[in-house]
Amino acid sequence: MPSLRNRRIPFVSGCILWCVLAGASSSAAQGSRMSSDAAKKLKNPVPYSKKSIAQGRTTFQRYCTSCHGPDGKAQVDVVANATDLTSPGDFKSGTTDGEIFRSIRDGAGESMPPFKTQLTDETELWNLVNFIRSLWPESTRPPLKDQ
Ligand code: HEC
Repeated sequence: MPSLRNRRIPFVSGCILWCVLAGASSSAAQGSRMSSDAAKKLKNPVPYSKKSIAQGRTTFQRYCTSCHGPDGKAQVDVVANATDLTSPGDFKSGTTDGEIFRSIRDGAGESMPPFKTQLTDETELWNLVNFIRSLWPESTRPPLKDQ
């Protein structure tokens, strides 16, 4: 009997360790994505201008076309289910500037990767938001700030 009791100790402590690690990693994952309310409240500090859109386009060509296609329509064979970024009605994670910012920074759905470690300059993220909105039908685009 005493030997059975001894054998339980590593088992129990292994369980506790596992639970602590699993709990920590899941709460870290939750903490890394901004809430919807917080995203909606974000204000885009970068004016919707030709310059910002052009800079967003350059970043887009570098990081995003492999899945969303060169025109943002996601007619790429490799990755199914990337959102057609030219069609705001198809967005699943929100269409306010702040929500788009969050989708890019923190990732979206099952397979949109977060870009916060690659794009650390928030201005670059807002330029991408402005570029994406420039792909939308004219009636849903904000007015250009430099015309
Ligand atoms: C590895 C492929 C991949 C790359 C690279 C990628 N995306 Fe995505 N993106 C996706 C997928 C898949 C979705 C759809 C996620 C979902 O199911 O909600 C998505 C969704 C989005 C959304 C949210 C749209 C919605 O449905 O609300 C935005 C905005 C977006 N991507 C922008 C970008 C930008 C900007 C870049 C480059 C910085 C980029 N993506 C790079 C695969 C990718």
